[in-house]
Amino acid sequence: MAESLAFSKTSDRRKIYEEVAPQVEALVAGETDLVANLANITAILKEAFGFFWVGFYLKKENQLVLNAFQGTLACTRIDFDKGVCGYAYTTRETVIVPNTDEFPGHIACSFDSKSEIVLPIFEKSGEVFGVLDVDSDKLDDFSQVDADGLRRIVQIIEGLL
Ligand code: SME
Repeated sequence: MAESLAFSKTSDRRKIYEEVAPQVEALVAGETDLVANLANITAILKEAFGFFWVGFYLKKENQLVLNAFQGTLACTRIDFDKGVCGYAYTTRETVIVPNTDEFPGHIACSFDSKSEIVLPIFEKSGEVFGVLDVDSDKLDDFSQVDADGLRRIVQIIEGLL
């Protein structure tokens, strides 16, 4: 794949997810290094949607550890029972937080993060491999469109595990 991204300049996120997903597929098909692929996926999501923070926390021993990301400085380790990331890891479900101030135990890596979506990433065994965390500097910025669009991206990653 060419090292550039093509997407419509539209506020219709569903359309952008549809355009971006095949480009992510093509990108990872040409590269076997997982971190290189995760890094490029964070870059693609940041560029296409302008999200405030996009990154991965992967399970290492008994914590979630910061991996590839785009955005401001972030906390490096999250316990499984802490934060939105830990909640998504433990419940194995996509979590949408419309207002981070109202989520009990939310970990504020940045006070500019106002809303958040976190998706679990599954290994073939069914274990949770880690999470994709996307933060916005706007309140209530994530909907089912993002949950579905980002799930498609996560499924591409799951195919690499
Ligand atoms: N807010 C997350 C922590 C990670 S940062 O947003 C980058 C949480 O509560 O798990």
